[in-house]
Amino acid sequence: MALDQDRSATADVEARVDSGEHGGLDSKLLASASLPERDETEISTGPDGSPLAAQPPWRKDFPIDWPVDQFVARRDFAKFLVLTSGAFVTGQAWIAAQHLIRSRRPAPPRVRIASLSATPPGSSQVFGYPNAHDKCLLIRSSDGELLAYSQACTHLSCAVVPRIEEGVLHCPCHEGYFDLKTGRNIAGPPPRPLPKIELSVEGDDIYAIGIDERTV
Ligand code: FES
Repeated sequence: MALDQDRSATADVEARVDSGEHGGLDSKLLASASLPERDETEISTGPDGSPLAAQPPWRKDFPIDWPVDQFVARRDFAKFLVLTSGAFVTGQAWIAAQHLIRSRRPAPPRVRIASLSATPPGSSQVFGYPNAHDKCLLIRSSDGELLAYSQACTHLSCAVVPRIEEGVLHCPCHEGYFDLKTGRNIAGPPPRPLPKIELSVEGDDIYAIGIDERTV
C-alpha cells in the first residue's frame, strides 16, 4: 500500500516536471527552448516588480527564472561568448603592441642635470628628463644620498612635492605619499612607484642616464 502511494507520488512529480507548463526537462521542450513561444512578461516580473522592458539588459540576458530563461536564444549566448573572447584577444594584442613599441624606443640620453657642489644635503631641484617638458626631481637627502624621480604622480600625474625631513614625497591632489628613499607608493591612491631616474656622478657633475619604470 505504502509502495503504491510512493509510486503514485513519483509519477505525479515526473508528470509535473515534464509538463511544458512548468518548463520541464524533456527532450521536446529542450529542442524548442530557443524558440520564444510565450510572452515572458506574462510569466515573470523583475525582483523590483517593474516590467521586464524596464529591467537592465543584463537581467534579460541572464534571467533568474527558468521560464524566462527559455527566451535567451542560443545564438545570443554564442554572440556574447564571441564578443567576450574578442575583447580579451584585443586586450592581449594591445599589451603586446605596447611592449614592442617600448622595446624599440631609443635608449634614454645622458644629460647633465646639476652640479654636486650646488646640491647640498636636504635640498631638491627640478630638471627635465628625457625631454625638457618631462619634469623630474633631483633630491639630496639629509644623509647626502642623491635620488631622482619623475615628478608626475602615478595616480593622475599631479606634481609631487618632496618633504625631505619627513622622508616622503607628497602629492597634494589626493593625498598620495611615496617613500623618499625608494619612490615606492606608501599611502593614498597612487597605484605604483614613481619612475626612478638613474644617476651618474663624475667629478662635480651629476648626469641623468636612464629611467627605471617600475610597476611594483
Ligand atoms: S594625482 Fe597624485 S594622488 Fe591623485
